[in-house]
Amino acid sequence: MITKPKGTYDLYGKDARIYKYISDVVERYMANYNYDLVRTPIFEASELYHRSVGDTSDIVTKETYDFKDRGDRNITLRPEGTAGIVRSFIENKMYGNRNDTIKLYYLGTMYRYERPQAGRFREFTQFGVEALGSKEEMIDAEVISIGYNILKEMGIEDVTVSINSLGDKESRENYTKALKDYLKPHIKDLCEDCQNRFNTNPLRIIDCKVDKDNEILKNVPKIGDYLSETSKNRFKKVKELLTLLDIDYEINESIVRGLDYYNENVWEYLNKEGLALGGGGRYDTLVSNLDGPETPAVGFAFGIERIINELNNIVSDNDLAKRIDAYILSVNEEEKMHALTLSQDMRLNGLMVETNTNNLSLKSQFKIADTLNATFLVILNSEKLQKGIVTVKDNATKEEIELDEAEVVDWLLGNI
Ligand code: HAM
Repeated sequence: MITKPKGTYDLYGKDARIYKYISDVVERYMANYNYDLVRTPIFEASELYHRSVGDTSDIVTKETYDFKDRGDRNITLRPEGTAGIVRSFIENKMYGNRNDTIKLYYLGTMYRYERPQAGRFREFTQFGVEALGSKEEMIDAEVISIGYNILKEMGIEDVTVSINSLGDKESRENYTKALKDYLKPHIKDLCEDCQNRFNTNPLRIIDCKVDKDNEILKNVPKIGDYLSETSKNRFKKVKELLTLLDIDYEINESIVRGLDYYNENVWEYLNKEGLALGGGGRYDTLVSNLDGPETPAVGFAFGIERIINELNNIVSDNDLAKRIDAYILSVNEEEKMHALTLSQDMRLNGLMVETNTNNLSLKSQFKIADTLNATFLVILNSEKLQKGIVTVKDNATKEEIELDEAEVVDWLLGNI
């Protein structure tokens, strides 16, 4: 038997129904917030991720799926969505002549060669939004609130929006210097990865998972003390707007995020175990670093598998049970042909319908109609069909009514 590759999973059954529910909520919210769908390739030139997510980031150094295609090109399976969207924004000149905010969203699979564990896969799915073209704090508040409100809508209440500010370039330079001065005498007490990060990506040392209980890291200088006046004011305004929108947040100065393109405010949506259901931030220099025009931007992405997992604990099987409008019962050839045409008629008129396509006994058909929670049963019987009559039965009250076959669709539409 051939089995699935390590770190992947098959989506089916209850999880698949939850996935559909999530994508329905996402679609509805994206329409309400006026974000447009964008779909970019699952693989891109490797260089894109080196220049965006970062040469020294864990994702690029350890986790990408890289290969040469048959034309000898260096290709990478996308580890995240933002870089590809920004590439597309530039290549397709989405900025055009418009000076309003370009608001985009995506839902698709991402690939990271990580050690599989709960909530961590090698192929996983992200829903993300990117708002490009505005530096106003209002858009930060909008983007942060989208994630928060979607989680709430789905009934995931126990979530903390943890925010931090990495500041502007000047703030980060000052902070990086202070951090390095503080850590320098302790380098040899850090984990091997952090010893390397000291020179390549010192900020990442702060949220090291290996060293998290290390006293040295508990006492690192606080980034908040190194923010420039502009960054401080900006962060203050974002927080005020979040309060205005009734969003519960907490400040967490150890959130630095694993991708190099961020500046100013960054945040994560953490569940009660502290696992990130999603994360995002502002990235004002990514578009220009990828050779596009100066374009401030902000966005976030959710890990859909982690949300499915949360919902699995909240949603009952009954909430997700299938419900159809009608099940058509038929036994002999003549009845089956009527079932075929009648079911098409009903479906084309917007009714959710199932019928016997597997030569089942009447008893089995009644059972299946129950598992599908059919509101009505349409019972076909050759003798009655010859007089143009069918029986419709309310599957809850068990009341029956005889109708002209030609009237059934209208009657069901009026009684559903
Ligand atoms: P990220 O924090 O790397 O950000 O990923 C966002 C979310 O994807 C995480 O919070 C997590 O829920 C999920 N995720 C990440 N890796 C895995 C994995 N191996 N298995 C399952 N779920 C995973 C980004 O990707 C940024 N592009 C977000 C963003 C958009 N920033 C600005 N715009």
